[in-house]
Amino acid sequence: MTYKIAAIGGDGIGPEVTQEAIKVVQAAGISLDVTPFDLGAARYLKDGAVLPEKDLEELRGFDAIMLGAIGPPVGSSEVPPGLLERGLLLGLRFSLDLYINLRPFSAPPGSIAQGADFAVVRENTEGTYAGEGGFLRKNTPFEVATQGSVNTRFGVERCIRFGFELAQKRAKNLTLVHKTNVLTFSGDLWQRSFDELGKEFPDVMKSYNHVDAACIYMVESPRRYDVIVTDNLFGDILTDLAGALTGGIGLAASANLNPTKSGPSLFEPVHGAAHDIAGKGIANPLAAIRSAALMLDHLGEQKSAEKITNAVIERSYELAGVDPGSDELKTKAIGDSVAERVA
Ligand code: IPM
Ligand code: MN
Repeated sequence: MTYKIAAIGGDGIGPEVTQEAIKVVQAAGISLDVTPFDLGAARYLKDGAVLPEKDLEELRGFDAIMLGAIGPPVGSSEVPPGLLERGLLLGLRFSLDLYINLRPFSAPPGSIAQGADFAVVRENTEGTYAGEGGFLRKNTPFEVATQGSVNTRFGVERCIRFGFELAQKRAKNLTLVHKTNVLTFSGDLWQRSFDELGKEFPDVMKSYNHVDAACIYMVESPRRYDVIVTDNLFGDILTDLAGALTGGIGLAASANLNPTKSGPSLFEPVHGAAHDIAGKGIANPLAAIRSAALMLDHLGEQKSAEKITNAVIERSYELAGVDPGSDELKTKAIGDSVAERVA
């Protein structure tokens, strides 16, 4: 079996870390037929294209999409803010109905949350990301801006169901994170869906945390978490916090999933393009490699997925104490060492 993979290396360190991830997957004995797609800030600056219809239609034909990172250098004025985020990344999430954003964290020794191992299931197509809202009287003193949060019973339920099913495969402990004390409409829908669906999963321990309290718990007692399920914006913020607590954003992997497999899912590290270190060969590829393991798991290659995940976690543990300037921390060196281990 050869998997047809679309590779959007993107900008900054994106192509470097994607290359290492592909190398590791192939070293594990998985055959990939990789087609590069030129999308991201560099492409936009070349010809103004963000996500052409033709590319989107082609992407639908792949088994999976690997994405490195997209975005112009911080402070660049050549790309309007939000254009690539909304047009390309969210464009892919919404067009391909990638309704789950799965982000696993395994905290190495020395990290703030050391010993913690949990996953965040973030709703990925609704909430404040849906694009509902607009301006009234723009650029006048009486300006109004609204940005609504869209929560459908269907969207909330399919996300929570995924959370329960994942918890069942892990330590059987699911925490809903929301802000039901203030967001009394959307929060109520989430809480009711959680309670009702929870009856189908009697073996899973259920908890609820307000999002602000969850930030405290994640810092003070992160080992309490197994699986967290939450909405799009809370999940975005919580997973950056989780990344910082569990060894840095260079380790944070993510899968944008359509669990029904009606089309390709997309796998990307949580980190951005990091233009300041691009081309220097010092970007940490472990997040991209673990994202590739999530891809293999989704494609049904559980054994290879597990092998790569374990190798990434082991390597992150070993590298935790290494001197920051060491050659061992070079992009290619890390990729090679993981590849060797999974071969
Ligand atoms: C992420 C990113 C994106 C998000 C941005 C780049 C649109 O921060 O994947 O977490 O907000 O979802
Ligand atoms: Mn984010």
